[in-house]
Amino acid sequence: MNSATNEKIVTINDERFRLFIPEDEVKKRVGELANEINKNFAGRAPIFIGVLNGAFIFFADLIREIEIGCEIDFFKLSSYGDGKISSGNVKLIKDLNCQVTDRDIIIVEDIVDSGLSIDFIRKLVMKQRPRSFSVVTLLFKSDCVKIDFTVDYIGFEIPNQFVIGYGLDYSQKARNLRSIYVLDK
Ligand code: IMP
Ligand code: MG
Repeated sequence: MNSATNEKIVTINDERFRLFIPEDEVKKRVGELANEINKNFAGRAPIFIGVLNGAFIFFADLIREIEIGCEIDFFKLSSYGDGKISSGNVKLIKDLNCQVTDRDIIIVEDIVDSGLSIDFIRKLVMKQRPRSFSVVTLLFKSDCVKIDFTVDYIGFEIPNQFVIGYGLDYSQKARNLRSIYVLDK
């Protein structure tokens, strides 16, 4: 596996994944999401909160396209264990260091799948009464999500399939792939 190339197929732990969203398409969409946020938050100073580990690459690319004053912080959650199906059991591993009260909060997620993680985060953040709460996710599995609020900024709506690369892992591997790959059934 070489993250620098745009391989059509990669194999991780004997599972085949095929190219799904190439690097240049991801980059273009990240720029578009940042533009929307730049426009909608002009004159404000939001705190971007990344959800570790999966969002780290999307977060780094998105934040460099943000042209308004901003701050950053991170949550770390665990729900997937080492497999391809969420355990459904969300645990907070690292809390925020910033003060959320009366601030514009933008949560940055790699993917919303069942919606359990983002729901958990929303409840946690809302307790501290932010001025506003928004979510930007690169990927959104529309079939799975069970949440009763809207995700404000969505990069790509994808079918209910397991994806890796660009920060997303399979058993902690493949986060370094530049493009997004889907499990090849
Ligand atoms: P949710 O709580 O089911 O919405 O999923 C939350 C987290 O599970 C995401 O932030 C990802 O880190 C991880 N996840 C969900 N779907 C996938 C996938 O297809 N590939 C890799 N990780 C995933
Ligand atoms: Mg995540």
